[in-house]
Parts: sequence; C-alpha cells; structure tokens
Amino acid sequence: MASDHAGVNLKSELKQYLAQKGYDILDFGTDSEESCDYPDFAHPAAEAIENGTADFGICMCGTGNGIQMTLNKHQGIRAALCWKPELASLAKEHNNANILVLPARFLSYDEAISIVDAYLNAKFEGGRHQRRIDKIPVKK
Ligand code: RB5
Repeated sequence: MASDHAGVNLKSELKQYLAQKGYDILDFGTDSEESCDYPDFAHPAAEAIENGTADFGICMCGTGNGIQMTLNKHQGIRAALCWKPELASLAKEHNNANILVLPARFLSYDEAISIVDAYLNAKFEGGRHQRRIDKIPVKK
C-alpha cells in the first residue's frame, strides 16, 4: 500500500480492514497528514510488485490521478483508478490490474470497502484480455 497525505487516513482504515481479512501488508507510507509528494511512496510500492516482493497493490492520493500516473510509469505495473465497484471488478477481469488506485478525497469508507472487495473477489479472465495486456509495455 502507498498514499500521500490526502490518502493516509483511508490507507490506515483499509490496512486494518485487510489485516482482519488475513492479508500481510507492506506499507510504503506516507504515515502522517503532513504534506508530501506521492511519487516518493508510489515508486517503492511499484518496485515491490515488479520484483515480486508484493503480489498486488492498493494505493491512493486525493484524486488518485497523481499516484496512478506515477505507478503506470513502471513497465510491470497496471494501475487502475476505480471509483465504483464495477470498475474495480473489470480492472481485474479485463486488465489484470496489479494495483487498485482509489481517489481518497472522493470516497466514503463504505464506498472504498466496496471497491476493494470487488477488486479482491474478481478473477482475471485471460484469453483475448491476455493478448491485449501483453501489448501494453512500451517496446524499446
Ligand atoms: C494533494 O493535495 C493532491 O494533489 C494529491 O493527493 C493528488 O490528488 C494528486 O493527484
């Protein structure tokens, strides 16, 4: 997990929720409401997924846009900004999103939980969607 100051409270609420569900959580910060820069926390979270230290991520900032833009600079990351449960299900089913991104300033706790649950419960469908995500990385 990672967030900036705008997402830190939601991150800590979701951390408790996920811990109760039995997930082992790596928290890359931030850990206070002091103003900070989301890339400082997004890059380490993305690297942990790319190198296999973490299986998937849940990240947030105020709008979700800044942290999503940062995460998606990593070739191995498919970060999906989701503000309703159906988007989170489809992000896993069709895009095999390995990071769920939330707009923390625009969600209630209950809405965020519904979105997280939708992401966790969905399964990648493979097939034509595998072919499509294989074409996402920029070829050098
Ligand atoms: C912080 O004020 C805000 O700009 C940040 O959380 C995020 O929304 C940026 O995309």
